[in-house]
Amino acid sequence: MTSLTNPEKDRYNLTAPEVFANPYPTYRRILQQEPVYWNDFLGGWYLMRYQDVASAMQDKRISAKRAPISKLSQLEQQNVFPLLESLSKWMLFCDPPEHTRLRTLFNKAFTPNIIGSMAPSIHSLVDQLIDSIYERGNIDIIHDLAYPIPAIVIAQMLGANSEDYEQFKKWSSDLAKFFGLFRMDTEILTNAKKSLLEMKQYFQFILAQRRCQSQDDLISSLIFAQEKENSLSDEEILSNCVFLTFAGHETTTNLIANGLLALLANPSQMQKLKNDPSLITTAVEEFLRYDSPVQRQARITLTDLEINGQQIRTGQRLFLVIGAANRDPEQFFNPDKLDITRSQNPHLAFGKGTHFCLGASLARLEAQIAINTIVQRLPNLRLDTDQIEWYENPSLRGMKSMPVAFNF
Ligand code: HEM
Repeated sequence: MTSLTNPEKDRYNLTAPEVFANPYPTYRRILQQEPVYWNDFLGGWYLMRYQDVASAMQDKRISAKRAPISKLSQLEQQNVFPLLESLSKWMLFCDPPEHTRLRTLFNKAFTPNIIGSMAPSIHSLVDQLIDSIYERGNIDIIHDLAYPIPAIVIAQMLGANSEDYEQFKKWSSDLAKFFGLFRMDTEILTNAKKSLLEMKQYFQFILAQRRCQSQDDLISSLIFAQEKENSLSDEEILSNCVFLTFAGHETTTNLIANGLLALLANPSQMQKLKNDPSLITTAVEEFLRYDSPVQRQARITLTDLEINGQQIRTGQRLFLVIGAANRDPEQFFNPDKLDITRSQNPHLAFGKGTHFCLGASLARLEAQIAINTIVQRLPNLRLDTDQIEWYENPSLRGMKSMPVAFNF
């Protein structure tokens, strides 16, 4: 493993294990000292203020079309070309007009009616999973509940076999490691390429099946749109199915688990929710703000511009630090306090503007049902470790496991 640049240039130590464990004190320090700062080690400008992050998300001079990782040598670029080529088709990495065309087609699967109609099946999935662990008394929230719930839901939505969800785990975690890469690691690059190609092959097979026999799923509706409007290539369908599989569960797993962790650390808030389950709507918004599953998103500038007194040059990378913006005291009253009844909560956990999360209402629904059912059905829920291990990933905030105990 060779480092991209000199690690000493990361003067706030953003990649230290203790900062991954709890980044918020460091974010606050940067926000107070230099809210727009150049991090040479990580190769970009860090934007920490709520207003700067929200404005950058909506600024047409700032593009989403960035390479997911900077500073690859030519040889490394050649090696991962199929990966980069496929990622360039993800709507997340496109600007209008390509973005608008893709988003419009996929939007049709995420209307409020469609998402709302999924509630009964999500309820029964959560109940079934809890039934299967009910007698045990000790479980890993991530492995037993927070991972399978969104993974099975997105598999079913796309038209994949829900029993294959375990396979998605390996593929997605290889991609997650790639997106969290902050120093060159050939093994991570190679695994990400291999997993992405395997995922595409998997969806290619379903695509071929659905062409022969259409079903009531997203892939069939994309084939229909492709035939009708002739504006979507197979490559775009496959790449965005891979993206939805990844985006559809990595983040939601972490919302469910980080939310439960926040409740366990704040027993009075836990009690409030137990007493009044209707608080779950504002509670999930608060979990999204308080410990955001997506901590930062990258962008690239299309022109020279100034942000908060700093001169940014064309082609420079920006990191919009959602996790810091959501704790900015200029925007949120008492930002380090978990308040599940918080009413003014315009957090940026799902982004803002053109790339606002397509799956936000699905993620909200899954987390509301999962967290409320877990809290109501598992009595005396408590953490069963004093050593939580966090992934060392600057983009996606999640625990490796979350052992809990409960009893009757
Ligand atoms: C807690 C769960 C989730 C969080 C925190 C989250 C967060 C985000 C964020 C921050 C963005 C904007 C990225 C940017 O501006 O660059 C985004 C985009 C997106 N998300 Fe999510 N997401 C979640 C769940 C989901 C789910 C369940 C799906 C789909 C089933 C999904 C699909 C997407 C898609 C397709 C985009 C790209 C939208 C576009 O480029 O127009 N997400 N998400």
